[in-house]
Amino acid sequence: MTAGEVTVRRLAILGSTGSIGRSALAVVDAHADRLRVVALAAGENAAQLAEQITRYRPAVAAVATEAALADLRARGVAGAGTSLHAGAGGLIAAATHPDVDVVLCATSGTAGLEAVLAAIAAGKTIALANKEVLVMAGALVTSAARRKGVSILPVDSEHNAIHQCLHGRHTAEIRRLILTASGGPFRDLTLEELQTVGPDAALRHPTWQMGRKITIDSATLMNKGLEVIEAHWLFGVSADCIDVVVHPQSIVHSMVELNDGSVIAQLGVTDMRLPIQYACSYPDRWDATLPRLDLAKAGRLEFREPAHDRFPCLGLAYRALREGGTAPVVLNAANEVAVASFLEGRLGFTSIPMVIEGTLNAHQGQSVLTGAPAKPGQEGIELIRQVDAWARERAAALAARPEGSYN
Ligand SMILES: NC(=O)c1ccc[n+]([C@@H]2O[C@H](COP(=O)([O-])OP(=O)(O)OC[C@H]3O[C@@H](n4cnc5c(N)ncnc54)[C@H](OP(=O)(O)O)[C@@H]3O)[C@@H](O)[C@H]2O)c1
Repeated sequence: MTAGEVTVRRLAILGSTGSIGRSALAVVDAHADRLRVVALAAGENAAQLAEQITRYRPAVAAVATEAALADLRARGVAGAGTSLHAGAGGLIAAATHPDVDVVLCATSGTAGLEAVLAAIAAGKTIALANKEVLVMAGALVTSAARRKGVSILPVDSEHNAIHQCLHGRHTAEIRRLILTASGGPFRDLTLEELQTVGPDAALRHPTWQMGRKITIDSATLMNKGLEVIEAHWLFGVSADCIDVVVHPQSIVHSMVELNDGSVIAQLGVTDMRLPIQYACSYPDRWDATLPRLDLAKAGRLEFREPAHDRFPCLGLAYRALREGGTAPVVLNAANEVAVASFLEGRLGFTSIPMVIEGTLNAHQGQSVLTGAPAKPGQEGIELIRQVDAWARERAAALAARPEGSYN
C-alpha cells in the first residue's frame, strides 16, 4: 500500500433490510472509498433487498425462505452477478464468503447464531448488533472467538461505549460497568397505568428509532437485561459488577468505573451510525457526517435507579445470568414469545415478565459445553436449540392461560 491509499473493508450485512442494516448501508454510502458490500442477507423483505442488490451489487444475497427467494428472483435481480440463496444455509453463505472481512450481524431474534459461529470459524471479524446471539450462546461464541483469535466488536450503543471507554484496558482494572437505559416510554407510569398500555404506545420510543421487538424490550427494560448478559460475555465481568442506571436523555451511552474510582463515560448523539461506523473502522477513527453533540443545548443530564418493582424483566435477566448455563436461553426465548403475544394483542404488558418468570421456574438448568462433545448430539449448539424450542413451547402455553395464572 502506498502513502495515502486506504484499505477497503469488505462487509457482509446480515439483516440489511432492518433498522441497523439500513443504517449500516448509510455508513457504507458515507465511506464508499473504504467500505464495500460483499454480502447481504434479509428475512422476508424481498422488495427492499432487491433494491439493495441493484445498488450495491453484492457477490451473494440471502433471504430466510424459499417464498422470499422466489419473490426476489421475480424482481429480476438474478443475473446481476449476485448469487442468491435461501434459508439458514444462505445466511451462512453470506457470513462466510471468502471475500468478506467483517460480518455485521444485525438480524433480529436468534436466526443469526449459526451464521456468527460459522463466520468465527472462517476467521471473520464480527460486528455484533444482534445481542440475542450472546444472550443465548455467550459461552460458545466467545470461546470460539478466543480459540480462533477473532474480534467481536459491539455495535449495541452501550457496549460500543464501554469498548470505547476501556480502550483495551484489562478486565482486572474494572470495578464496575454502568449501562445507561433511557427507561423507555413508560418510565414514569405507575403499576396501575402499566396494566392498560398497548402495543402502539409501547412502540413509541422517546429517544431511539429501532425495530419492533427491541422497542418493546426497551419499554419492559428487558432490553437492558439482555444487555447486562451481553456485557458479561463481551467484557468478562460478573453480574455483581454490572449496574444499570436510567438516563432519560440517552446522551451518556454507558460508563466504566475503574479500580481507582475514576468513571469514564462515552457521550454522543442518539444515532446508531456512530457505533456501526466505529465497529467498521476499528481501530481507526473516520470522520462522520453525523449531527454533533451540543451539551449546552441538551441542558440537564439526569440519572436514577431503575424501578425494579414496575419493570421486573431487568431482575429476571440478572437471575438468568446468575443461574448461568441454559437459563439465559430460556429467558430469551420466553421473552420473544411474550413480546410477540403482546404485539398481537393477546397478552397484557405487565404479563410479559410473568410469562418469562413462569417459564424460568419450570426449567431444569443445564450447563452448555463449549469444547468438543463427549458424544455426538451433545454439542452446545444442539442443546441451546433444544432448550430454546422447549422454552418457546412452554411460554406459548403460559401466555395462552388466563391472566395471572402463569406459574
Ligand atoms: N435498532 C437499533 O437501534 C438496535 C440497537 C442495538 C441493538 N440492536 C439489535 O440489532 C438487532 C436488529 O435490530 P433492528 O432494530 O435492526 O431489527 P429490525 O429492524 O426488526 O430488523 C431485523 C432484520 O433481521 C432480518 N431477519 C429477521 N429474521 C431473519 C432470518 N431468519 N434470516 C435473515 N434475516 C432475518 C430482517 O429481515 P426482513 O425485514 O427482510 O424480514 C431485518 O433485516 C436486534 O438483535 C437488536 O436487539 C438494534
